[in-house]
Amino acid sequence: MRRVRELESLGIDSLMVTEGGLLLARKGFRSVVLVGTSGGRLVAIKVLRSDSPVKSMEHEARMLGIANNVNVGPRILSYTNEAIIMEYIQGPEISSWISSLSLEYSKDLRKVLRMCFEECFKLDSIGLDHGELSDASKHVIVEKGLRPVVIDFSNANTTRKVSNVTSFLSYITYGRVAKIIRQILGMKEQDIDVVRAYKQRISEENFIRLMINLGL
Ligand SMILES: Nc1ncnc2c1ncn2[C@@H]1O[C@H](COP(=O)(O)OP(=O)(O)O)[C@@H](O)[C@H]1O
Ligand SMILES: [Mg+2]
Repeated sequence: MRRVRELESLGIDSLMVTEGGLLLARKGFRSVVLVGTSGGRLVAIKVLRSDSPVKSMEHEARMLGIANNVNVGPRILSYTNEAIIMEYIQGPEISSWISSLSLEYSKDLRKVLRMCFEECFKLDSIGLDHGELSDASKHVIVEKGLRPVVIDFSNANTTRKVSNVTSFLSYITYGRVAKIIRQILGMKEQDIDVVRAYKQRISEENFIRLMINLGL
């Protein structure tokens, strides 16, 4: 009840309900994500679970705010210790999106992967490490119009060495959808020196060399 009042104070006008109850985007490890509306727009309401090992949403809200500064992630609208209200991103998770592609969509795949890398590069450039992009499956949503959006900044950090680009690279090279990506794009092995150069010095020049090397 207290939480419902809290949601009202955060500007939530309604929660989506189905026959089975509240509409959950997903129940996560730390949180429950609900779908609601605020000012006529769909919003995702990420509520801390009472049994979560994390005690406050503040860290995640701050990390998402930093990502938003470079236009990465769902827009954060407001937050308290217990909940974050953000833009609702509609679309499939990247792994299911890729799995459903057939060979003739190589152009779309190339475009989406390139955009994912650009999001990662923006985060690398500001020193924000997402922390969970080596298994990007659940942490990138492909929105209509083929815009990939990185979600879940609960493990993000500004003190670790950043590895967003290289984590995403290992996801597409060794992850769950690596084989399909190779089949559709016919990608060759990366030049390890190009990857190493980027790791040693995160710069636009080294990023572009890496993208060219990947054929993106
Ligand atoms: N802004 C959002 N828009 C749409 N769906 C979302 C959004 N944020 C989270 N979700 C959904 O909720 C799930 C759990 O969210 P996530 O932030 O990963 O929680 P956790 O920190 O508990 O892992 C995601 O996998 C996704 O399906
Ligand atoms: Mg998650």
